[in-house]
Amino acid sequence: MANRIGVVGGDGIGPEVISEGLKVIQASGIDLETVEYDLGGERYERDGTILPESVLEEWRDLDAIYLGAVGTPNVPPGVIERGLLLKMRFELDLYINLRPFVFPEDEIDFQVVRENTEGPYAGEGGVHRLGTPYEIATQGSVNTRHGVERAVRFAFELAMERRRHLTMVHKTNVLSFAGDLWDRTFNEVSEEYPEVETAYNHCDAACIYMVQSPQQYDVIVTDNLFGDILTDLGGAVSGGIGTASSANLNPTKTGPSMFEPVHGSAPDIAGQGIANPVAAILSGAMMLDFLGEQNAASRIVEACNKLDPGITGTIEIGNAIASNL
Ligand code: IPM
Ligand code: MN
Repeated sequence: MANRIGVVGGDGIGPEVISEGLKVIQASGIDLETVEYDLGGERYERDGTILPESVLEEWRDLDAIYLGAVGTPNVPPGVIERGLLLKMRFELDLYINLRPFVFPEDEIDFQVVRENTEGPYAGEGGVHRLGTPYEIATQGSVNTRHGVERAVRFAFELAMERRRHLTMVHKTNVLSFAGDLWDRTFNEVSEEYPEVETAYNHCDAACIYMVQSPQQYDVIVTDNLFGDILTDLGGAVSGGIGTASSANLNPTKTGPSMFEPVHGSAPDIAGQGIANPVAAILSGAMMLDFLGEQNAASRIVEACNKLDPGITGTIEIGNAIASNL
C-alpha cells in the first residue's frame, strides 16, 4: 500500500524545490499518495488561516509530511514559525531534528541531533508593561529530563551505527541549570554505551571547530536553539545551505514525521527558477529511508552525489538527479 504523505510546499522557493523532490521520488520508483496543503505565509495573508485543528487531526493519520519552507516578508516574525512550524513539531511530538552534513571533498560526515520540542523554543515567558520604558520581557528555556534523555539516547543509538563518537554541545559554563541537567543526563546515558567515545564542546567553541576541523565530528547532540544555529553553520561548511536536509522525527512512529530542507523560503530568489533543490531532494530521501524504503533513499543520495556541479537551475538540477537514478 502506498504511503500517504502530506505535502506543504509553503512559500517562496518552497513549492519550487518540493516539486523537484517529488519528481525525484517518483523517478526512484516509489509510489506515494500525496495530499497537498495550502499553508504558510501567503495563505495567512489571504484569509488568516495558519494551521486549522482539523488539518492537524488529518495529519495524525498520515505516514509523513514533506514541507518546503514557510514564511513571507510581510507577516511579522513568529506568526507562521510558531503557529505552523513549531506547532507541528510540538503537537506531533517530533522530538528529534536530525540534520546530516556530508561533504566528501573535505571528508566531512557528521550528523546533528537537535532536541526539537523544548529549550528556548518552548514558548515559556512573557512580556510585562509592553511598550513602556519599564517593559520586561522574559523567555525561558524549558528542559525536562524526559525530553533531554530521549534526545541523548537517540544520539547514542545513532553513534552506535556510525563511527561511535558523540559530542554534546551546550553552554554549561553559563546556563548552569539547563546545562547541568544536560550534562548529568549525557553522562548517565553514556554508561550504557561504553563503546561510544564521548566529548563535550561549549557552543561557541563548537562554532570554531566546525569551521576549522568539522572532520572531527561524527554525531553531535544539542539543545534546540544551539542546534538551530549550529546546523546553519554545518550547511555553510559542507556544500552550502542549499544542500542541507533535515528530518523532524517522532521515532516512536505513533504519528507522522516531517521532512524539510534546513533553509527557509528565500523570497529574494523565489520565482526565478534558481533555488538549489538538493536540500529538499535529500530531505525526500530521508523521508523514504524513515518509511522503510532504504534502497530508493540511498539511490537518491548517490544520484545527488553524482550531480554535475556545472548544472544550474531548480528544474535542471531536479531533472539531472532524476536521470542519474
Ligand atoms: C529551522 C528554522 C526554524 C527554527 C524557524 C523557521 C522557526 O530556522 O528549522 O532551522 O528555528 O527551528
Ligand atoms: Mn534554522
